[in-house]
Amino acid sequence: MKKTVYITRKLPDEIINKLSSSFHVRMWEEENVPVPRDVLLKEIEDVDGLLCLLTEKIDEDVINKAKHLKVISNVAVGYNNIDIQAASRKGIIVTNTPGVLTETTADLTFTLLMATARRVVEASDYLRSGDWRTWSLMQLTGQDIYGATLGIIGLGRIGEALVKRAKGFDMTVLYYNRTRKKEKELELGIHYRELKDLLQQSDFVCLLLPYSPEVHYLIGKEELSLMKRSAILINTARGGIVDEEALYQALASGKIWAAGLDVFEQEPVPVDHPLLSLPNVVTLPHIGSASVKTRMRMAHLASENLINVLSGREPITPVIVNK
Ligand code: NAP
Ligand code: GLV
Repeated sequence: MKKTVYITRKLPDEIINKLSSSFHVRMWEEENVPVPRDVLLKEIEDVDGLLCLLTEKIDEDVINKAKHLKVISNVAVGYNNIDIQAASRKGIIVTNTPGVLTETTADLTFTLLMATARRVVEASDYLRSGDWRTWSLMQLTGQDIYGATLGIIGLGRIGEALVKRAKGFDMTVLYYNRTRKKEKELELGIHYRELKDLLQQSDFVCLLLPYSPEVHYLIGKEELSLMKRSAILINTARGGIVDEEALYQALASGKIWAAGLDVFEQEPVPVDHPLLSLPNVVTLPHIGSASVKTRMRMAHLASENLINVLSGREPITPVIVNK
């Protein structure tokens, strides 16, 4: 008998066709509306495999409803939306999509850094509003990128890819990571700093570490107060790493210069969120990996992970659970 797979969002036909050739496939048919919780709780009951997006909270309640589930395949590298301990207790394998999105996300992180530093969105809005009357010396002046100091918090795959871009701009690169990576310091020409020192010394601080309860509000009032008044915070990791209320206060009072945010604690971020009212914030709707090729690579890797597990083979990119 064919195994059953549930897909939590409408995906491109070539992915559906690939899965349908081996499995009975059910899918939430909407592209721009997430699967309602009650539907997910019902659908999960009898399926063997789940292919989900980062928008789906696969917590213990969902996992405990599943009677036959063998694999949860997340179409994202971050997997903080999944309770991996609860999955592991039931012998369910969790997989993610590392690597295939590294360069694209590093591109977007550097794009956001540049757009924020040079006030690109604000300048474009200024022109379109009809306020542009003449060229003047200090009009819409921002911060230099070339030669500046970049501080990366979380030197993993994407952090390392960001270093390559920064080096092209003659930036000095500092990093803070859970584990110090001495070989990378020599290979990439970067310098380790404790978090406090990195915050004090960097012109740009980029967050590129995974979210976990241990790093909830890692960047709060105290950390923001250590940063330079001219400094810029870029978050393409996860919203919960930054205390948004503290960030709003720091930006509104000029304690730091600007922020570029691709991720928020609540997504979609409410349009009346205070951060969206500030001119020195560039906001994006979680598009770090959003190139056509990369999103297709992610969907293919996620589907192959799922196929492998349900066919009795090893997944390509399992999430390793620390017991
Ligand atoms: P990765 O290769 O696993 O790198 C994560 C790095 O963070 C590792 O070097 C890790 O250190 C470090 N780290 C983990 N916990 C830490 C902590 N508490 N303090 C300091 N450093 C810590 O992951 P990646 O592929 O680069 O992706 C990083 C994250 O980016 C993802 O988890 C995801 O949340 C986010 N992301 C966002 C988008 C987007 O669309 N905006 C796209 C892709 C990824 P160790 O070496 O000690 O493990
Ligand atoms: C996107 O945020 C990802 O984790 O892949």
